[in-house]
Amino acid sequence: MTETGPNQPAVTAIVLAAGAGTRMKSSRAKVLHEIAGQPLIAHALFAVRGVAATTVTVVGHEREQVSAAISSLDLGDLGVVEAVQEEQRGTGHAVQIALDALGDVPEGTVLVTYGDVPLLTSETLAELLEDHSSSGQSVTILSAELDDPKGYGRVVRDADGFVVAIREDKDADDVERAICEVNSGVVAVDAKFLRDAVGRLAPSNAQGELYLTDIVSLAVEDGLPVGAHVLEDVWQTEGVNDRAQLARLGRELNRRLTTHWMSEGVTIVDPDTTWIDSAVVLAPDVTIFPGTQLLGATVVASGATIGPDCTLRNVEVGADATIVRTHASDAVVGAGATVGPFAYLRPGTEIGADGKVGTFVETKNAQLGAGAKVPHLSYVGDAEIGEGANIGAGTIVANYDGVQKHRTTVGKHARTGSNNVFVAPVTIGDGAYTGGGTVVRKDVPSGALATSAGSQRNMEGWVPANRAGTSAASAAEAANEEEDDAGE
Ligand code: UD1
Ligand code: CA
Repeated sequence: MTETGPNQPAVTAIVLAAGAGTRMKSSRAKVLHEIAGQPLIAHALFAVRGVAATTVTVVGHEREQVSAAISSLDLGDLGVVEAVQEEQRGTGHAVQIALDALGDVPEGTVLVTYGDVPLLTSETLAELLEDHSSSGQSVTILSAELDDPKGYGRVVRDADGFVVAIREDKDADDVERAICEVNSGVVAVDAKFLRDAVGRLAPSNAQGELYLTDIVSLAVEDGLPVGAHVLEDVWQTEGVNDRAQLARLGRELNRRLTTHWMSEGVTIVDPDTTWIDSAVVLAPDVTIFPGTQLLGATVVASGATIGPDCTLRNVEVGADATIVRTHASDAVVGAGATVGPFAYLRPGTEIGADGKVGTFVETKNAQLGAGAKVPHLSYVGDAEIGEGANIGAGTIVANYDGVQKHRTTVGKHARTGSNNVFVAPVTIGDGAYTGGGTVVRKDVPSGALATSAGSQRNMEGWVPANRAGTSAASAAEAANEEEDDAGE
């Protein structure tokens, strides 16, 4: 994490996130739109967390939303100071406000990044800071060579290749516009110089803004060394301005995450249709089949196979478990358990080791003991199923009386028949049985067999007598004749 040893200068980050994000056409602040399960601002702050001790977040548009989202993030030791920029008068103005919010001029280096650039990594920031401190430069910009530099600030170098200015697209002449090296917007600056330089910015440009980028020419005027750290991986400099860019960067981040997990020993049969949020943790020898989304804080242990076509959000999957065509959230699947196909595990589901939740089964707030099975066509809500119990096909736990939810308990190694209804609150004892079609309204003692359906009555000859002329009546008559013939 933060490496501020005696030889390492302190780093204070400033994350700019005050902009309007008009092109998103959203009631949600731009930096709160998500990729890989995290808002853009979280990606920016997680990158900064790896290199800085303190960060100032500059918020403006929809700042209540943005501040609340930032406070809910787990940023470890990173100290967060908020600065409010009421009116967006440019990146230089935003940095002025950030420095004002800090009060004293910080020691060491200030690192400026943007809240809407989600693929930037801590490693890249560390390399930029290392280049900055080892070169003794006052300003080190992070630049990139782009095939299409349109819209970006261009890095202007002199005949000897030294960086002398950044020229915004709107202020550039034809020669400058032809430059393909662009300013990413990320910059490391000596703190004392920055404090002084932002006070000298003037809005003498096409947009009438205070440009942070003008600190480059100010440093050159002062005879201070300026440099650029050129980043090969141009994705890391790309910002999100609209929904198409959100999707594009989301897909690329997913490609990076799937590639990472494959390098860690996870088999991903089809990375293109597998989506993994950035907080997900996978063990080696997990196998993921196509069409699977692993979301939120999902954790999967070794040997588990998931998919095809599963969506798991905040699910803990035990070793060697198998989950097929399942939608699950806030659930625990024990080691060796099997789930699906076509299961729906809702919050509070816990399946014990080697347990089974089978086809067309829905569970909610249901705890299944080790080896307990609900194999077919059932609903199990607000219930505890004891270890080794087997619930018959087509069982419904009627947990809701129209006003309140009630709990059902099924004992260890119980065997309940098909097409049962357990009317909660009710308890079925250890080792108890129920017959097919039982409606369990009263507790069943351990070892008892409960039945509730009336005994079967056969009304001989009812069909030919009451449904004469139908195919059923003909079939019955033919069968009876055959029986009579055989009897003669
Ligand atoms: C800026 C850079 C440009 C660089 C480009 C990279 C300047 C003058 N230009 O241009 O050289 O190539 O980024 O993407 O710095 N923001 C605020 N307050 C403001 C203005 C902006 O918080 O008053 C924030 C925005 O929310 C955004 C970031 O700063 O996250 C960049 O602002 P934006 O207007 O997108 O800058 P560009 O014109 O793209
Ligand atoms: Ca931008």
